[in-house]
Amino acid sequence: MAMQQSFAVTCQNSPMTTQEWQRAFQDYDAICPCVADRVSADVYPAAKLRTCILANYGVGYNHIDTSAAKARGLTVTNTPGVLTDATADLAMTLLLMLARRAGEGERQLRAGLWSGWYPTHMMGAMVTGATLGIIGMGRIGQAMAFKAHFGFGMKILYHNRRPVTEAGIAAMGAEFCEHLADMLGRCDFVALHCPSGPATHHLMNSERLAQMQPHAFLINTARGDVVDETALIQALSAGQIAGAGLDVYEKEPAVPAALTQMENVVLLPHLGSATLQTRVAMGMRVLRNLDAFFSGKEVPDRVA
Ligand code: DGY
Repeated sequence: MAMQQSFAVTCQNSPMTTQEWQRAFQDYDAICPCVADRVSADVYPAAKLRTCILANYGVGYNHIDTSAAKARGLTVTNTPGVLTDATADLAMTLLLMLARRAGEGERQLRAGLWSGWYPTHMMGAMVTGATLGIIGMGRIGQAMAFKAHFGFGMKILYHNRRPVTEAGIAAMGAEFCEHLADMLGRCDFVALHCPSGPATHHLMNSERLAQMQPHAFLINTARGDVVDETALIQALSAGQIAGAGLDVYEKEPAVPAALTQMENVVLLPHLGSATLQTRVAMGMRVLRNLDAFFSGKEVPDRVA
């Protein structure tokens, strides 16, 4: 609604073909892609573009080739800050579901296979007091640390490019681990909160997965390509780790069939930011960037 007050808006709810992209670059002053849209170097037409800004609806922008966009004179913006808690909440959901076998239990009950209470029925892992290793201590990683530590008494270890100096991090006694290998072997849960990019592509490969403890769980709400999915399937099949909770995948929306057949894996369809309040806030952030851009002001959330 708010956007229609300032702009003539066309909505497209599915990813565009290259031909549709080429057309859109000729027809629109601004395009607002999301994570499902691949804005690679080859979607641009040869001719001059009418479009001058890609106002991404989302904080992650690894689906946009920013160098190619810049080369075609485009400004690129994102929506930082407004989806921090929603994404950390979902990471915590995955952690709890994995530890307490919630998906498996619900499937059993719905299938009519629950025979009643008995002492050894679906025993899970304890969350309270366990050790959580966080990879990527940006806004979302920090929010996850707060929820896990102050909500569930978890000990927090983290791996990041550099130690985080925020007072809250010191208050929870979070321990910086310069070397990932030193952290992985000490965690009961490992949560990924780093951006996707050349430095983090397949960060969790077979070698790193093997460094985790056999009772440990991996949680990914960051981006699918941070985990080598083939290596993850092998590690899960071999019992090298206890389970995985995934909200993101290497080739979304395709999910490897092997993962869908594993009881110790919780799979969600990229729901990290999917609360009404968050999706509205993301839209308002997009609008703020568009308004600034078209009134000749510096855009607040420029990434290119
Ligand atoms: C984000 O904002 O990066 C979410 O993953 C949805 O795109």
